[in-house]
Amino acid sequence: MKLRIAPVLLASVSMLAWMQAPAQDGSTLFKTKCAMCHGDQGQGKPPMAPKIAGSTKVVEVLTKGGQPKAPHINPMSALTPAQVSALAAFVKAL
Ligand code: HEC
Repeated sequence: MKLRIAPVLLASVSMLAWMQAPAQDGSTLFKTKCAMCHGDQGQGKPPMAPKIAGSTKVVEVLTKGGQPKAPHINPMSALTPAQVSALAAFVKAL
């Protein structure tokens, strides 16, 4: 009996760890954190936000801020370096 339950328990524990880990996937991050302003394909939503598809400025904008308008006046400090890299690669390839 115990032997049958163990693998199920193990699977649930790793599933939980996976769900709690911060998302590192560029596509998912983009959908949840950027698409509402920049559009699903980074095509921009004028006048709300410019096109960023293919941009190579993502790392700079997210880590340094310094843009004239919100939300990029300040760095997006909630993002980890791994998330910023994933987003940069995703946006560049759009
Ligand atoms: C609340 C709306 C909003 C959200 C959310 C947002 N942006 Fe922006 N973004 C803007 C606006 C507005 C500008 C223009 C900023 C300016 O000119 O000061 C901009 C500019 C940029 C630029 C510079 C474009 C250029 O070529 O000058 C990049 C790169 C960028 N955003 C990336 C991102 C990424 C990646 C995310 C997700 C982590 C994101 N943005 C989330 C509104 C947003």
